[in-house]
Amino acid sequence: MRKLLISALAMVALMPPAMSSAQAARSAGVADDAIPGSPARGAAFAAKQCASCHAITADGVSPRSDAPPFGEVARKYADYRLDWELEAIASVGHYAMPPKAMTAIQIADVTAYLRSLYDKPRDDRHRR
Ligand code: HEC
Repeated sequence: MRKLLISALAMVALMPPAMSSAQAARSAGVADDAIPGSPARGAAFAAKQCASCHAITADGVSPRSDAPPFGEVARKYADYRLDWELEAIASVGHYAMPPKAMTAIQIADVTAYLRSLYDKPRDDRHRR
């Protein structure tokens, strides 16, 4: 019990520096999506968790007509923080889309996968 408490305290103590360096990187304009994810893992996750509604390839047709194909999502978010959008979707959904629980790693992986579907030359200074 005591050991647990100590490790919980240690974790809390470790958090602020980790967050502030991420924030510093972001404000310097070098951080894109917060955590670099694995496109391959993201593809596997999307195949299991998203493909019943969304086309998950760059130019597929979605099984559910009101769910945008992932190629379209990738284009729409080319200049925006897709990981933030997925964080919101994970907790509250998106209009007609029900919430879809995702861990931080899963969000990073799906973000990396979606980024791989659309290869616009990106200007990070315009990313918000
Ligand atoms: C039950 C069907 C369903 C599943 C499963 C599903 N979605 Fe969706 N999703 C939708 C629908 C419908 C919309 C369109 C919602 C709207 O804008 O009204 C949507 C929209 C989105 C959008 C677009 C948001 C925007 O700004 O346009 C993203 C991103 C997204 N989904 C990601 C995912 C990911 C990632 C998964 C898998 C982890 C997933 N979805 C699984 C139905 C689904």
